[in-house]
Amino acid sequence: MSSKAFIRVFIFLTFCCSTLLCQLVVNVKNKGDEVIVESIHANTTSDTVTLEYLNTDGTLVTLFIDFKSEAQLFKVIMPGEEELGDTQPQTICFITRFSHSDFISSDAMSKLRQKNPTAIRTPEEEKAPGTYTHDLRVDLVKSHVISPHIYNVCQDAVDSIHFTESDLRTISRSLSKDYATMMSAMEKHEPTKYARCMDTQEIDRPCLCRFDLCIGWYPCGLKYCRGKDTVGKVVSYRCGIKTCKRCLTFFHVVDTKRGCLWDV
Ligand SMILES: *[C@@H]1O[C@H](CO)[C@@H](O)[C@H](O)[C@H]1NC(C)=O
Repeated sequence: MSSKAFIRVFIFLTFCCSTLLCQLVVNVKNKGDEVIVESIHANTTSDTVTLEYLNTDGTLVTLFIDFKSEAQLFKVIMPGEEELGDTQPQTICFITRFSHSDFISSDAMSKLRQKNPTAIRTPEEEKAPGTYTHDLRVDLVKSHVISPHIYNVCQDAVDSIHFTESDLRTISRSLSKDYATMMSAMEKHEPTKYARCMDTQEIDRPCLCRFDLCIGWYPCGLKYCRGKDTVGKVVSYRCGIKTCKRCLTFFHVVDTKRGCLWDV
């Protein structure tokens, strides 16, 4: 790990664990056997959960779940490539529909307590990998049509907030939101019309960019046990959480290959 990356980890941990926000710290190993530290916290007032980790390449990944809006935001902050004279971090937000079977509720999450913060955890189940091909770009200023939290979480991503029309349609039906109003905050793209950035030679051409991430450990369900209550009646009660890992691939259109230098 470079010294810069180390300082980032240090700032991240200090920031997260010096506040009451840090409800859970989980250590998980990635594919390369390196330890990734995740912090997870729930806000029951806003009915949201935030899971954050720093990748070994210096990328900070935040998963923000807005249960009420049935939306989850994956924010990725990539440090600038200094060798390429680019020192500005690049932020991208991928928005997908959240389904209630994807994560435990913010209420259940808020009740989890830290046990053994130094242990390396292994998820019980690895979910099938998912792929999202984003065909919508979200206007930050109108992003509240999807979730009121996008504006805060994704404001550094400005022109790089991505969503899919199929998820928009599902959310519009599920929450009885007006489809046309939601679509008016979107710019439509045809991902199939673009070549993959990895196959594009010219740096100034638009192309289809790929980004991969894994959430190495998250509470994906509750476990129930059976027991007897004080009068001997059989009851089922919550006795733990089920844990999962999930890897996702996101495709999105970029205006120039410069916005997708990692996809080679
Ligand atoms: C939880 O969410 C509420 C409502 O959005 C907000 O006012 C409050 O500051 C949040 N609490 C924390 C600890 O972030």
